[in-house]
Amino acid sequence: MCARILIIDDDQDFTEATQLLLQANGYQVTTAASGQEGFSKVKHDSPDLILLDMMMSYKTEGADIAKAIAADAASKEIPIVMITGAHKEMDFPFELRPQDKALPVRAVLEKPVKPESLLKIVEKCIKLNSQDHVKTVNQLEHLAAKWKGKKGNLVMILHEIQNHYGYVPRNVSFELSRILEVPMASIYEVLTFYNYFKLEAPGKHTISVCMGTACYLKGAPQILSELKRILHVEEEQTTQDKLFHLQVVRCLGCCGLAPVITIGSKVYGKVKTKEVMDILSLYVKEGSKNNE
Ligand code: FES
Repeated sequence: MCARILIIDDDQDFTEATQLLLQANGYQVTTAASGQEGFSKVKHDSPDLILLDMMMSYKTEGADIAKAIAADAASKEIPIVMITGAHKEMDFPFELRPQDKALPVRAVLEKPVKPESLLKIVEKCIKLNSQDHVKTVNQLEHLAAKWKGKKGNLVMILHEIQNHYGYVPRNVSFELSRILEVPMASIYEVLTFYNYFKLEAPGKHTISVCMGTACYLKGAPQILSELKRILHVEEEQTTQDKLFHLQVVRCLGCCGLAPVITIGSKVYGKVKTKEVMDILSLYVKEGSKNNE
């Protein structure tokens, strides 16, 4: 199956030319001429990649659509490439660059877009691996057959997927939706109802912050805020570099050391807010040493 790309852009000439280019390179392309139409196509079609224009009916419509897509559990993992004819002098309330907090996109391309640059970025974002894809589909078909006609089969299949991957990847949910003929929305209803299911790949190190009574009274909320501030994540989220996953737990059984956090199997007791950065640095340094 070829990768599916959605172009959201009100510039008809650009949309048509880009659609032809991508189709000629083996991609399946759909288009939307407005942010609203694009957003509903994202929900309905669950594309593998979105090319999104920044300026449509107003200057920052693309940014608003990108944020709405990133805020929805069913679409947050879909990579977005922002395409814009706007240059710095347009005075945006944020910088037009990827990873900007106000702009949840993988890349920014300025019009006129060179075909080779576009194809390079598209390929990088999609990272099509047809062998992996076929393997995934085979595994899902096997699971669907195993649980066919059994009560609660969707939940059981999702459990098996999570045990296999450590989380439930969006593209796997999409294939499951196709095989079981169950809408994606129903799958995400189940995934978001049960805390057990994770929608993001787990980080290399899981940080658990104890919010049991003793830890809470000794400053755990401040430790949690500091971790969120430094890592730019909320609870149950993984940092962009996949190094840390942050979670909150109830009593870790060592209340005498309150406030307590654990990173992997290592326990840190009587933690002070000002020590949080140094503790995290140990893991960041360890990661960079391993990469050397
Ligand atoms: S309350 Fe935190 S370890 Fe018990």
